[in-house]
Amino acid sequence: MRILITGGAGFIGSHLCEKLLQEKHRVICVDNLLTGCEKNVAHLKENGNFTFLNHDVIQPLKITDKIDIIFHLASPASPNHHSKLSYHTLAMETMMANTQGTLELLKLAKKHQAKFLFASTSEVYGDPKVHPQKETYNGNVSPIGPRSVYDEAKRFGETLTFHFFRKENVDTRAARIFNTYGPRMLVEDKRMIINFITEALSGSTITIYGDGRQTRSLCYIDDMTEALSRLMFYPKTAGEVVNLGSNNEHTVLEYAQMVKEITGSPSTIRLTEPLPKDDPEKRRADITKAQQLLSWKPTTTLETGLKKTISYFQKRI
Ligand SMILES: NC(=O)c1ccc[n+]([C@@H]2O[C@H](COP(=O)([O-])OP(=O)(O)OC[C@H]3O[C@@H](n4cnc5c(N)ncnc54)[C@H](O)[C@@H]3O)[C@@H](O)[C@H]2O)c1
Repeated sequence: MRILITGGAGFIGSHLCEKLLQEKHRVICVDNLLTGCEKNVAHLKENGNFTFLNHDVIQPLKITDKIDIIFHLASPASPNHHSKLSYHTLAMETMMANTQGTLELLKLAKKHQAKFLFASTSEVYGDPKVHPQKETYNGNVSPIGPRSVYDEAKRFGETLTFHFFRKENVDTRAARIFNTYGPRMLVEDKRMIINFITEALSGSTITIYGDGRQTRSLCYIDDMTEALSRLMFYPKTAGEVVNLGSNNEHTVLEYAQMVKEITGSPSTIRLTEPLPKDDPEKRRADITKAQQLLSWKPTTTLETGLKKTISYFQKRI
């Protein structure tokens, strides 16, 4: 099949390109390198089935040869206020990639009669009043709050995706992606796992906010690309929105201890009080629907996922 992946030079997109090429598909990676980088797909360029297009998805994309599948992943994704690559800094680009960009790609899907997947996020649930969140929960999002440039743009992206399913007869679905980790994550993101790995590898103190008993559930990238692929290719997925992520909770302290152990780092772990105000106590995906519809659940153990991630960053930091 001929598959177009927007955001293909980013973290999740580059792994998805790799997986689909391994499965002998032809892959067109569309990316304007706003937060991704060409290095992420450099190793794919010798593959005759791979094409890279430097293009901004908010502009119409003219492709004459038939496209069968579109994965729309292009969007800044980092929530870190201090990063120049975050959706706060790139607010307008984030809003446009998920709204205008989604519209352009849905029009392309309609023209080619291609199947379409929109990469949405668990952030559509906002500051949830219900735990864990099922797909039927409509969320608690401020339309004008600081995170709204991302959350509301993703929500409208979903709206467009389902409008084209209902009214324009396009075979669409949306994935609500929860925290994912692995090689090629943005270091600038300063997400918990990246912080722990960089601190451990440099031998500096591993800092935990709060008492370390708050829990996180992280999905390893290979499990995520498998889920995205199933959501596209499995039957009865048209018109569905599905949570994809891990429901395997670990405390933040456990993550830090495991990173320290695997790296063999002399770093000490320091707990700092108090927990930042917007740091949730618990974050876990309800993946009952993915289990039923896609026979999917993450299978990579935390130890294996961390070993692969650490080995990638060991060569780069
Ligand atoms: N990583 C996660 O844990 C996570 C969680 C929830 C949702 N998501 C969603 O998954 C998708 C991929 O996220 P990621 O973590 O790989 O982020 P990423 O920043 O690594 O990748 C996004 C890619 O999109 C490209 N891009 C951005 N705007 C573009 C535009 N206008 N035109 C063309 N390309 C553009 C970037 O250059 C980058 O390569 C995003 O839509 C994100 O919102 C990710």
